[in-house]
Amino acid sequence: MAGKVTVPEIMKMKQKRERITALTAYDYSFARVLDGAGVDILLVGDSLGSVIQGHKSTLPVTLEEMIYHTKAVVRGTERALVVADMPFLSFQVSLEEAKRNAGRFIQEAGAEAVKVEGGVVLSETIKAIVQMGIPVMGHVGLTPQSIHRFGGYKVQGKEKEKREMIINDALAVEGAGAFSLVLEGIPVDLAEEITHRVSIPTIGIGAGLHCDGQVLVVHDMLGFFDMYTPKFVKKYADLKGIISKAVKTFVAEVREGKFPGEEHSFH
Ligand code: KIV
Repeated sequence: MAGKVTVPEIMKMKQKRERITALTAYDYSFARVLDGAGVDILLVGDSLGSVIQGHKSTLPVTLEEMIYHTKAVVRGTERALVVADMPFLSFQVSLEEAKRNAGRFIQEAGAEAVKVEGGVVLSETIKAIVQMGIPVMGHVGLTPQSIHRFGGYKVQGKEKEKREMIINDALAVEGAGAFSLVLEGIPVDLAEEITHRVSIPTIGIGAGLHCDGQVLVVHDMLGFFDMYTPKFVKKYADLKGIISKAVKTFVAEVREGKFPGEEHSFH
């Protein structure tokens, strides 16, 4: 797809069996690079709570913080579809709050869609946001905002009963009118079954190869964030190593009086 990525284009990609690529982005400079490299979807994920803010979970991330980061990503994006993640407490309290907060991501921040975590219990919320004309990306399976209920970042849906629940969640999200669905931390065969049963594209993270697309946290896949690396992450670069080497060189050159050189000086 050469031009601007839109919600209908993303939905068509499933029918055309074109795999969808998505990465998280949290700021202008990263967004420019990822967008220029051809990623279809830039997700301003509340994972920024971990990789940008240094929290142990996504739960402390606020609506205002998400709006701030979404604005920066939107400014750096020309082609990709920008999806803003609705943080904890921004959509669970009431339909009214969910609608207003989703609207803020579109009106103030310039996002083109929002993402919400949850399945069956969230159908009414998804419907209400979709009815406002705002495209919604669903998210089921290992939903990090429910980490305390799960008792940690554990793969979900291994047991038969839990598997059925996740399938019902996925069908509910589709039925509520979401345009796509993130499947996180579930067995490969469960993700495959859901991908076949729903008509909307599934975007997997830790959900195997059979999803319609894949998303990763950009700081993980570039080897920038090294506090922990989940099994599902492939490191495509060693950004930490590259940055560390460059900074060590800078430190050494300043200490040795080698930087700034003539070419970096004014006369
Ligand atoms: O917050 C996030 O980055 C996410 C993706 C990992 C799906 O929800």
